[in-house]
Amino acid sequence: MYNIIKFETLPSTNKYLKENYQNHDEFTVVTTDNQTNGKGRMTRVWNSTTDDLTFSILLKPNIDSSQISQIPLIIGASLCEIINKYIKSEIKWPNDIMVNNKKIAGILVEGITSNKVDAIVVGVGINVNSINFPDDLLIKATSLKKQLNKTIDKEKLLNQIIKEFIILYMEFLNGNKKYLDIYMKIKADSEEEKYSEYSITEGIFTCEDGTKQEVELMSSTEYAYYELDNAVGFKKDYKNGSLHPDIIKLIGKLKYRTSYGQNVLNHSIEVSNLARIMAEEL
Ligand code: BTN
Repeated sequence: MYNIIKFETLPSTNKYLKENYQNHDEFTVVTTDNQTNGKGRMTRVWNSTTDDLTFSILLKPNIDSSQISQIPLIIGASLCEIINKYIKSEIKWPNDIMVNNKKIAGILVEGITSNKVDAIVVGVGINVNSINFPDDLLIKATSLKKQLNKTIDKEKLLNQIIKEFIILYMEFLNGNKKYLDIYMKIKADSEEEKYSEYSITEGIFTCEDGTKQEVELMSSTEYAYYELDNAVGFKKDYKNGSLHPDIIKLIGKLKYRTSYGQNVLNHSIEVSNLARIMAEEL
């Protein structure tokens, strides 16, 4: 069902598949123990050695380009499901997998599109058996070995992840959003008492009648994206508002939310109540 190709060394497994996707079938998995010019998100660098797991999966789905945004959620849910077999992990929006508040894995999904989706490359880097981190990463990153004090079988882990990913991905193609249930459950489990992550997210929400509304969602960023992504039609242009973090925290605690459809009088009453509650708290 899938085919793993291992290179002794590669600049980047994502780059390799982006350049060679035409020569490979869907579910080709490229991995290396020595990634020398790996790409992270936002111009970050992601290099790796034999201790870590570095791989990219090639997909060739017949989907609209607007659906590419679901792939990071599918791989994120798959990674957490499998890493949870070893130790409890969490998803930090949009693409980081965390264990005990430290990053253990990163995801970089890249689409190759013309007038359609030609291919998608799903890149994953997991800190598996590395124990020495540079000073700047020491407090931010961890590995399975650091957390569990034992060496993990990388090959077994890779196969577990790919199998899980393929199951969730195939279900996604068949219209089954199990990955979202998993994703949201993992988020909900880790979200408790983490209200500082709440913020205002603005977005375009497509209503059932096809009209579009600008909305502001007051919830965790992840839930806001989730709600936007699960509304009817295609939504994008999200951007985060800025509010003092203490206010976000307080309002987040109340799970307060606004939208255009809200009754203005009720809205005002809620706002004055909120102001009172905030004043009491502050
Ligand atoms: C991030 O956290 O910034 C994302 C890191 C993604 C790194 C992986 S490693 C395999 C694949 N090849 C790359 O060049 N990048 C991704």
